[in-house]
Amino acid sequence: MDTKNALSVEEIIQKHSNEKGTLIPILQEIQESFGYISKDAIETISRLTNYAESDIYGVATFYSQFKLEEPGLHNIKICQGTACHVNGADTVKDVIFEELKLIDYGTTDDKKFTVEHVACLGCCSLAPVMMIDGVVYGKLTPDKIRKILKSF
Ligand code: FES
Repeated sequence: MDTKNALSVEEIIQKHSNEKGTLIPILQEIQESFGYISKDAIETISRLTNYAESDIYGVATFYSQFKLEEPGLHNIKICQGTACHVNGADTVKDVIFEELKLIDYGTTDDKKFTVEHVACLGCCSLAPVMMIDGVVYGKLTPDKIRKILKSF
């Protein structure tokens, strides 16, 4: 997410206005600039292009790369792959949910963390594993998880 020099939603739409199949590039650039595609952004796209809001939602929900909710400041990915699963991924999830007062995957009320699950983070020998903001934390125990979360 790069909000420093970000173009507005209107400017992004304008920039892509002469391209064919403009919707996906517009959605990609909005997502990259703002971290998600807001309801307001979808209304603006619909107003300034020929796409109906329902079509824009259809595309945005079809591709998992697009997020329709504002993400938390930090992103936590809990690995649920086979190696992590047999080594306690469920405990990792339970401890994280308990610490962050979440009842399901998603974003905490204070918008500090977004918690997701992934199939495999590619470092199975460290199972169970989670990733926070692109950094892998392995051989997790409940105590280790609590310490890591407190450091944020
Ligand atoms: S299964 Fe978790 S890192 Fe591969």
